[in-house]
Amino acid sequence: MLFKQQVWLRQKLLVLGSLAVGSLLYLVARVGSLDRLQPICPIEGRFGARGQAEFPLRALQFKRGLLHEFRKGNSSKEQVYLHDLVQQLPKAIIIGVRKGGTRALLEMLNLHPAVVKASQEIHFFDNDENYAKGIEWYRKKMPFSYPQQITIEKSPAYFITEEVPERIYKMNSSIKLLIIVREPTTRAISDYTQVLEGKERKNKTYYKFEKLAIDPNTCEVNTKYKAVRTSIYTKHLERWLKYFPIEQFHIVDGDRLITEPLPELQLVEKFLNLPPRISQYNLYFNATRGFYCLRFNIIFNKCLAGSKGRIHPEVDPSVITKLRKFFHPFNQKFYQITGRTLNWP
Ligand code: A3P
Repeated sequence: MLFKQQVWLRQKLLVLGSLAVGSLLYLVARVGSLDRLQPICPIEGRFGARGQAEFPLRALQFKRGLLHEFRKGNSSKEQVYLHDLVQQLPKAIIIGVRKGGTRALLEMLNLHPAVVKASQEIHFFDNDENYAKGIEWYRKKMPFSYPQQITIEKSPAYFITEEVPERIYKMNSSIKLLIIVREPTTRAISDYTQVLEGKERKNKTYYKFEKLAIDPNTCEVNTKYKAVRTSIYTKHLERWLKYFPIEQFHIVDGDRLITEPLPELQLVEKFLNLPPRISQYNLYFNATRGFYCLRFNIIFNKCLAGSKGRIHPEVDPSVITKLRKFFHPFNQKFYQITGRTLNWP
């Protein structure tokens, strides 16, 4: 009798336990999606052009999984059709600068419900072979999205490649262009560090930064060194300004994006005419990584790959001083043209 009662009690506890766990899981999922369930903006907050049930756009973003499945061939074309999914040309492009924080910026903007990122660098406008494949090829490289969302891609080589401004202009003369910059000397060292790591991976030796950045014959800054040239932002920007007015550019402070990402992202939201949706909740500092990481909801979060945030080699302080002095007049011009003063040394 006692044994029967114990079994009954155990079964009851099991049922109650399952119910409690189930409710907890439901709550976790629900709270995690609360933010997503808020409509983002009056018209963008809905979809269902074919008169289907109206869903807040954020909730629909859960269907990104479905898009992924579709790309893997596991989801039917009907599903894509049913949900009004399209592959759209980008409305904004992060055109550079290499090592400025382009990946972090793209990933962080992708937290916004109205933004869909192209995960890969597409290199359509800077690569002649790709460009020859035509605009439809480019569009097909874009992720599926809802018509109300905007697609953003990033290919940092665009900023420094001669032909790109004209090509982008031909695609869309009113496109919005994002440039993320870091203090030029730090950026050059970051650029060098990336190349150095590549060489080391192949067991190859490489020059020291000092040797590349300073011309041994003149003892002046070596302007033939690509990492130096890329950091002369104003020179590149001037080429772009032959095609686009300055109002179509937004400068992101890459150094601030590292230490204080939210205000930088809010400025971008404004520039893109998006309602402010990225919040401090979406960004948390990860002490192990030494960087901010992304939080989508209480379940999903991610940090950038280890290739972002490398330890830079030590550089002779006199070389740093020389480089900073060299960049100084170019920086002043950059501030003047863009209207954004970044107080670089
Ligand atoms: P370092 O590796 O020199 O630190 P890009 O994506 O354009 O290649 O830029 C890489 C840089 O992004 C990194 O340069 C890193 O400093 C910066 N960055 C900015 N925010 C970051 C973040 N949240 N996580 C990792 N790296 C970030």
